[in-house]
Amino acid sequence: MSLNQQPENNCSLCPRLVEYRQENRTRFPNWHNGPVPSFGKSDSALLIVGLAPGLKGANRTGRPFTGDVAGDLLYPTLISHGLAKGVFRAEADDGLELLNCRITNAVRCVPPQNKVTGPETAACRPFLSAEIASMKNLKVIVALGGVAHGAILSALGEKKSACKFAHGARHKLAAGLIMTDSYHCSRYNTNTGRLTEKMFNEVFQAVVSLL
Ligand code: URA
Repeated sequence: MSLNQQPENNCSLCPRLVEYRQENRTRFPNWHNGPVPSFGKSDSALLIVGLAPGLKGANRTGRPFTGDVAGDLLYPTLISHGLAKGVFRAEADDGLELLNCRITNAVRCVPPQNKVTGPETAACRPFLSAEIASMKNLKVIVALGGVAHGAILSALGEKKSACKFAHGARHKLAAGLIMTDSYHCSRYNTNTGRLTEKMFNEVFQAVVSLL
């Protein structure tokens, strides 16, 4: 198993995701169709962890949350809190720059129906562990959703029973790190009103005060 932060482009750890990737490479030959690399600088103090790339979004553009509906809330929120600058145009070449902030996913490859399995999250965990270990100035990790929350705890070897997922909750982790939970900014959560713009903004306002 690689200790790199980034799986290789033809990573073969998850048979189901490999099969889906091959299908997508045939159907959409001009898309990224590979593990989506993290975005932002490694010397940032903030790491945001999402679930997995969306088919027509991050899997197409090759940048986390870019082209996915979830990014239409995430990136403007980051800009308004001084964590990104530029104009977000939902394309990887829009020139948007993250400030003191990096974004990654618990699972780097697009899953069918946007649903990852436990073994896939476990297989991708070493990349998240390596990502966290490489961020020498890291202070705060934002978990977008319960899967990211669990993946972060496992990646750091923390007990899951000690930290329950709750929107807005703040957890003290090993080595002085803080994890803040937010409901995922998915279309489902925003359409159903589980997550409002106000709730999401409040999370990032609190996060910025910790950096
Ligand atoms: N796109 C991503 O890159 N991650 C998510 O969690 C959702 C959409």
